[in-house]
Amino acid sequence: MTVTAPKWPTRPVPLAIEVPDRVPKQRYYDAEFYRLETELLWPRVWQMACRLEEIPHPGDFSEYRILDQSVVVVRTSTSEVRAFHNTCRHRGVRLVEGRGTCSGGFVCPFHGWCYGPDGRNTKVTQARAFSEPNLDPSELDLVPVRCETWGACAWINLDDAAPPLRACIEPFATILDAWQVDSLGAEWWYACRLPVNWKLAQEAFVEQYHVLEAHPQLRIPGRLPPRNPDEFDPEAFVQGELRYLRAMSEGMGGMVHARDVAIAESLAGTELPHDYGQARVQWERGLNDAVSGAHRARGCTIPDLNDLADRGQNDPMAYCFPHYFVLPMYSSASAYRFRPLGPEDTLMEIWSLTRFPDDAPPPPLPVPDWWAHDDPRWPAIPAQDFSNLPRQQQGLHSRSFEYMRLGERNEGHISNFHRVIDGYLAGLSHETLTSALPKVNLNPLEMPIVEIDFAGSAR
Ligand code: FES
Ligand SMILES: [Fe+2]
Repeated sequence: MTVTAPKWPTRPVPLAIEVPDRVPKQRYYDAEFYRLETELLWPRVWQMACRLEEIPHPGDFSEYRILDQSVVVVRTSTSEVRAFHNTCRHRGVRLVEGRGTCSGGFVCPFHGWCYGPDGRNTKVTQARAFSEPNLDPSELDLVPVRCETWGACAWINLDDAAPPLRACIEPFATILDAWQVDSLGAEWWYACRLPVNWKLAQEAFVEQYHVLEAHPQLRIPGRLPPRNPDEFDPEAFVQGELRYLRAMSEGMGGMVHARDVAIAESLAGTELPHDYGQARVQWERGLNDAVSGAHRARGCTIPDLNDLADRGQNDPMAYCFPHYFVLPMYSSASAYRFRPLGPEDTLMEIWSLTRFPDDAPPPPLPVPDWWAHDDPRWPAIPAQDFSNLPRQQQGLHSRSFEYMRLGERNEGHISNFHRVIDGYLAGLSHETLTSALPKVNLNPLEMPIVEIDFAGSAR
C-alpha cells in the first residue's frame, strides 16, 4: 500500500471548537488564530476572484487581492480565463493594480520586462547584463495560479494540490445552476469596510433568527398564518406580501428587483382562496409564472420558477465556503463576498444581480470605493446589519464574555462553518476536507448543527 505524506502535517488547533454550540470568542480577534487562517486556510481554498463581466474582452484583466497576495485574472480568449501571481520575475514589482486591458501584454513599470497575456515572458530589457542562470527561460514567465470559471465568475486557488473547483463547491454550484445564475448580470456593486472579523461579518447574514429584531420593517401583518383560520383575509395577505416585497426591494437596493415588485403589484387583484395555505401557494405560483414569463418576454434567460419550486430547488440562499454566497429572489439575486484585511477588519462586497436580455449584456461596473459601515448611502437592511456588527466585535472583548452560545437548530451553520475551518487549521488532507464541504455549501438558513466527520481526526 502506498501512503502519501500529507503536504500539511496535521496539528492541534488552538481555540478549536470543542463544544459544537459554543464558539470561543478569541477566534474573532486572536492574532495567532488569525495567522493560522492566513497560512492554512486562505492559501488552500477556492475564492471568487472576479465576475466575468469585469473582463469581457480578450486582454482584459482584474486584480484580486487576498491578504498579502495579489493575483491577476486575465481573459486570454473569448473562452479562456487564466490567473497569475501579479509579480514581476525581476525584482518583484506588482505588475498591475485594479482593472484594465493588456492587449499587448504586461509591461513592468520598473525596468520594462514584458509578459504576454498568457504570462509568457516576452522581453528582458538589457538581457546581456544578467548571468545565464538568472535568464533560465523556465523561470521568467509569470507564475500561474489555479483558475476556473463557474457561475459567471472566475475562481482562483493558490494551492496547486487542491481538488478542482466544482469538487469543492457542491452542492452550492448545482443549486445555483438550477437558478441559471450564470445568466445573471450585475446591476450594482458596493463595498463596505467593517471593523470586525471576517467570520463575524458573514455570520450576520447566515441565519434568520435576527431578522425580526434587527429589521423591524419586515414584521408585516397579514403575511403569517392567522391564529384562527376563519380570520384569514386574502386581501390583507396580498397587501402584506406587496409590502414585504417593497421592503426587500427598497431596503436591499434591489434584492427583490423593482421589476418583480411591479409584476407582483399587477397581480394585486387576483382572487385568492379563504384558506391561508392554499392562498400562499396560489399567490407564489402565480407570481413565479408572471416573473418567468415577463423576463422571457424581455429576451432574458430565466428558469421556470415553479419548476424550481416543484423540485425543491428554490431555497433563498446558497453558501460557498469560505467567503461567498448568493441569495436568489424571483428573477434576481444578491451576492456577497468577504475578505479579511486584519483580525478585526473586513472588506465585504455586495452585488445586486439581475436578468438582462441575452443580446444586451450589462457593461462592466466600476470597482466600488469602500464605504464605511455607517455611510448614509447604505440601504436600510444592510445598514441595520452593519450597525450591530461593530458593537458585537467590541462586545466580544468583554472580560465577562467567554464564548458565543448558538441555537443548535437555527444557528447551526455558524458551528458547522467553524468546525470546517478547524479542519483546515489542523492541516487535514484536501481529500478529507472536501468530503466535509457539502455540509456547509448549501442553504445556511435554519440549518441545524450537523456532524462534521473529520472533527475527531482533527485532534
Ligand atoms: S521589477 Fe519588473 S522589470 Fe524590474
Ligand atoms: Fe440582516
